[in-house]
Amino acid sequence: MTMTQDPDESRLYPHLGDAARAVIDAGLEARIRFIKETHWIGYAQADLILARMKELLDAPRVDRPECLVILGDTNNGKTSILQRFANSQVRIERGDGSGSEWPVVTIQAPPVADEKRLYTAILHRVGGLGASLRTRSALFTATITTLSGIGTRMLVIDEIHHLISGSTNQHRICLNALKYLANELRLSIVVAGISDAHYSLGVIDPQLENRFKPMQLPRWIDGVNFRRLLASIEMILPLKKPSILQRPVMAKRLAILSDGKIGELLTILVAATVEAIRSGKECIDEGVITQIQDIAPAYRRRTLRDDL
Ligand SMILES: Nc1ncnc2c1ncn2[C@@H]1O[C@H](COP(=O)(O)OP(=O)(O)OP(=O)(O)O)[C@@H](O)[C@H]1O
Ligand SMILES: [Mg+2]
Repeated sequence: MTMTQDPDESRLYPHLGDAARAVIDAGLEARIRFIKETHWIGYAQADLILARMKELLDAPRVDRPECLVILGDTNNGKTSILQRFANSQVRIERGDGSGSEWPVVTIQAPPVADEKRLYTAILHRVGGLGASLRTRSALFTATITTLSGIGTRMLVIDEIHHLISGSTNQHRICLNALKYLANELRLSIVVAGISDAHYSLGVIDPQLENRFKPMQLPRWIDGVNFRRLLASIEMILPLKKPSILQRPVMAKRLAILSDGKIGELLTILVAATVEAIRSGKECIDEGVITQIQDIAPAYRRRTLRDDL
């Protein structure tokens, strides 16, 4: 891969950020590989959520630590934010050779509300699951001992709707387990789930609804924030010519095509970038987007539906 050396290149490709500029003169396939990799794209609401998570992590340990629930529709960036936060936290090696501190532990909720599977998921994550751990009480004790031993201060649970979208006894037991872990270890719990997860928390346990303050990732609609997002995305697309994705006509079209979901938007723009590279057009214009729609029937249907 050719790395850009020439300081004048920033004047040549002012629409690109450093990472895209570094590969812009590489071959077609290298540029396509680059755009298919994951690149973090910052936006205001993600920054707010990340800042809140940091605040919770750094807060003094109290008896009833505050918790957070991140709510959003599917494919709209919840897991990416959790991963971004987890990646920003280094695990600190203890000087005395007793292993490392693990301040933030991230798991996916087990697919069904089951207390034993919840503990198992946590223990698996931190490598503390012994073969003898079968009973609820053994798993529970191991979870408390392990998390306290590695200095965990925040437990992050993705796909929380699995544990709470229902109000059976099992759901209640799982939530009580979480409440107990939070209190006993004085750790903050951050969960992410689809939009009605907060409501579900309240149905099962109003006290928890109160304790888990919600932050939303609303679907994107065309407007100032969406256009800022498009401008940020354009900076990572390794195309030689500017596309100016935030133009009103283009922004409106992308908002509809993506259904307001960042994941869909990126899928469309990555496909459009590949098309623009392969065709030699080197920018994304209306024609490229139309071609993408011709290839992907779902997007075609969406435009038709939205035009009705
Ligand atoms: N800030 C971001 N920067 C870069 N890529 C992102 C960002 N947010 C989301 N994406 C991409 O969009 C897609 C969907 O994001 P993500 O998996 O985070 O959504 P989700 O809300 O967790 O969805 P689900 O509810 O289905 O689990 C992923 O491919 C992810 O890489
Ligand atoms: Mg997810």
